[in-house]
Amino acid sequence: MYFKETKGFPEGFLWGSASAAYQVEGGWDADGKGVSNWDKFVRIPGKTFKATTGDKAVDHYHRFKEDVKLMAEMGLKTYRFSIAWTRIYPQGNGEVNEAGLKFYDDLIDELLKYGIEPMVTVYHWDMPQALEDEYHGWENRKIVDDYVNYATTLFKRYGNRVKYWITMNEQNIFISFGWLKGMHPPGKENDMKMFYQVNHHANMAHAYTVLVLKELYPEAKVGASFAYSPCYAYDRKPENAMAKADYDDLQNYWWMDVYAYGRYPRSAWAYLESQGVTPDIMEGDLEVLKKAATQVDFMGVNYYQTCVAEFNDIDGVGMTNTMNTTGKKGTAEVQGVPGLYKNPANDFLPTTDWDWTIDPMGIRMCCRDITSRYALPIVISENGLGAFDKVEDGQIHDPYRIAYLKAHIEELKKACDDGCQVWAYCTWSYTDLLSWLNGYQKRYGFVYVDREEDENSGTLNRIPKDSYYWYKKVIETNGKEL
Ligand code: BG6
Repeated sequence: MYFKETKGFPEGFLWGSASAAYQVEGGWDADGKGVSNWDKFVRIPGKTFKATTGDKAVDHYHRFKEDVKLMAEMGLKTYRFSIAWTRIYPQGNGEVNEAGLKFYDDLIDELLKYGIEPMVTVYHWDMPQALEDEYHGWENRKIVDDYVNYATTLFKRYGNRVKYWITMNEQNIFISFGWLKGMHPPGKENDMKMFYQVNHHANMAHAYTVLVLKELYPEAKVGASFAYSPCYAYDRKPENAMAKADYDDLQNYWWMDVYAYGRYPRSAWAYLESQGVTPDIMEGDLEVLKKAATQVDFMGVNYYQTCVAEFNDIDGVGMTNTMNTTGKKGTAEVQGVPGLYKNPANDFLPTTDWDWTIDPMGIRMCCRDITSRYALPIVISENGLGAFDKVEDGQIHDPYRIAYLKAHIEELKKACDDGCQVWAYCTWSYTDLLSWLNGYQKRYGFVYVDREEDENSGTLNRIPKDSYYWYKKVIETNGKEL
């Protein structure tokens, strides 16, 4: 749609930035913290780029005050971070670790001291290893109770100071990488039946968590963060339009419909039934999903790229467990589901060095689609550019990151003009951090951190990049000056 004038971003818009515990904190065994699945997984040879770990990460655990001070100087309105389950319950359940609770007390208080709204992610992929050992974590329905118990502890402790809660980060990614591609813990491949079962358990954990939070704090705002890649049909050929519909049902609405409506899309369900991979659902589950959906306040969107769907013959390409983790452009492979779709590159769009498509208009697409389909407010909980950064004379000039963010914010502004209710925009990420499979060379932050892949490298000193000063201005002008 075209509007002669822009209304701009609403007053009180939450300009933010994000991180995740495993990627920034370090202190992997500090103060009673238990071992997580990622603490273990990164030690398996060949799993991460140059065997990088989050043992030390960027040491946010010890330097959070310095990081928050820089946020305050930038004028950040909200900081999205996740809590490490293993700091709170080192064994996943049972005895609570007061030192872990205290760490997040201090972080939250520090943010509030500067008027920065904490936005808390309950789970950003780091599952207590003890629960993996005891009953295979997400694979067992028992996880739902342990998850809700953990989340309830967080709500009771921090609910008086935290208004915005994200129940789960990118359920679609951690489950497909964990049970189909073998690239995240527990490292299983092509276990389609378990993939859908695990996903159902995660849906139930999300739903019960929403209900508990609203019971305790009816005024809290809650949603899940979905990794949303809007999809374009390859061309006007009807087969390709159908491939897009299949992709959307199985890859996008399969999750978002649950968060927003509490139901699985019917055609996708029929397809899974024909494949014999539908999840087992307990009596009452669907009612719980529905009830929780009525209490969800926003759709969290992590937006990085769009994709293309083209019909894929029954003998066509399948999933592979490879991806470009080196930053050598052009090494990604086309993947797909035989008989349904494949996802070729989009010739109209540039890509990053890690072969991620750059498509600013896609962020507006996300907002439009969510608004039409669910009429929910939107929190952009991640958006950003992973790039190689260089220090020159003590400074980091990152015009490419500024250009990327500017183009996305311009499109987001148009989404607001389109009538979408966008509450927040969080860039990924605030400081540089560990990129799960890509080590420390793939940098996303406004704040450079002096470290490389080697645990003993660098001073861990923080240096604001050019993009830091640029975003400061964006915030000051509520997105008028980009
Ligand atoms: C999202 C995750 O998938 O994308 C983040 O929520 C992640 O944790 C980010 O770091 C960027 O992905 P990557 O693989 O480049 O680190």
